[in-house]
Amino acid sequence: MFGIDHRNRLWSGLGFAFCLLLINFRSLSKLSAEEFNYDESKVPPYTLPELLKCEDGTLVDSIDVWNTKRRPEILRMFEEHVFGTLPAGKIPLRTKIRSSVPDALEGRALRREVTVYFSDDDHGPQMDLLIYTPAGATEPVPAFMGYNFDGNHMLEKDPRIHLTESWVLNRKELGIEDHKARDASRSGSASRWSVPEIVGRGYGLVTIYYGDVDPDFDDGFQNGIHALFGKGDSPRAANAGGSISAWAWGLSRALDVLESDSTINAKKVAVFGHSRLGKTSLWTGATDQRFAMVIANESGCGGAALDKRIFGETVSRINTAFPHWFCINHRKYNNNEAEMPVDNHMLIALSAPRPVYVASAEEDRWADPYGEYLSLYHAGPAFRLFGRQVFESDQMPAVNSPVQADVAYHIRTGAHDVTEYDWEQYLKFADTHLR
Ligand code: GCU
Repeated sequence: MFGIDHRNRLWSGLGFAFCLLLINFRSLSKLSAEEFNYDESKVPPYTLPELLKCEDGTLVDSIDVWNTKRRPEILRMFEEHVFGTLPAGKIPLRTKIRSSVPDALEGRALRREVTVYFSDDDHGPQMDLLIYTPAGATEPVPAFMGYNFDGNHMLEKDPRIHLTESWVLNRKELGIEDHKARDASRSGSASRWSVPEIVGRGYGLVTIYYGDVDPDFDDGFQNGIHALFGKGDSPRAANAGGSISAWAWGLSRALDVLESDSTINAKKVAVFGHSRLGKTSLWTGATDQRFAMVIANESGCGGAALDKRIFGETVSRINTAFPHWFCINHRKYNNNEAEMPVDNHMLIALSAPRPVYVASAEEDRWADPYGEYLSLYHAGPAFRLFGRQVFESDQMPAVNSPVQADVAYHIRTGAHDVTEYDWEQYLKFADTHLR
């Protein structure tokens, strides 16, 4: 038993520790990107979990053992420790064509907007697909599918594209200060999408505003599609899916819709995403094997980069700045990456044997370009099981020298962004694997 004195001391000790924790938590989220490790010589020694060794020690030596044992184990670990899961079960979808323009982009594309409702309520959770296909296409085309950051109207000036009514991130440079999309920002992200080149090369593009599916702020999972799964989950389960799981779920629902669309070949859809949405495309490829190809542009921490390298963004920083992206269990690995039972070479391997493209940018050190390459390299053995051709060297290629086999990688000059250069490489990769 503690005497009064000891108890007081214990409480004040605990209080002090709590304050320290709070200060640490607050200050961590305020640390600027400059204050993290960018020095290769300071990357701590780390050991990656073995990709081809099952939990019971069985070595994976066949496609069958991979498919029936190791792959499900890895998927479960990512569900339990990283992204979390959403309740399974089919949600009935309803769709409505919002618009159809046969001669968009100066006659080059058929452009449609399709609203997908996730419930019987027209005002309930829903998302708008913006779909481009080559004008005059006579058969279903392969396509790229990916979320955009600020709304479908950001792809083009055309005022006929619906201005999203969903919550958007404030952006002073676009005059957005009340989380509402503005007409003035139309076409603001056009440079990230290369739509004329995509349709010109015979592909479709399906894009969706990610905030339709789950607005990107921590609201205790009340909004977006989380509402569909019941608000009564309190306290939230430690393995309940966060926003990245919700976004991945939305892409799968979009693919459901495309399965009955006559213009797009749903068996040849590449899931694409940049940054947080690149983390999402990797998780989508892992959870939904219908996607034929996976592209992660500068996806960084929690995406393609190896978390155990502690280079650039860290697990602790990402969970502090974006507490809603991952599941609660992921926080166990704050400043504790060495204990993670997985790393992101395993996330990439979940897409094997489908073609995977990982891309980095030279100035985007926050996303750890070398860690992104290494992840793809260490995912190699899973692809090799299927006879796929992967990279032999753990040294990344030179800047602006893409390498493409059954997986692909490039690091280009420039900053964190999606550029025409990136799309040129993705189109070339798709020409090889989706045609
Ligand atoms: C932040 C975050 C990254 C993320 C990026 C983005 O920089 O720390 O993890 O990839 O935002 O999505 O733009």
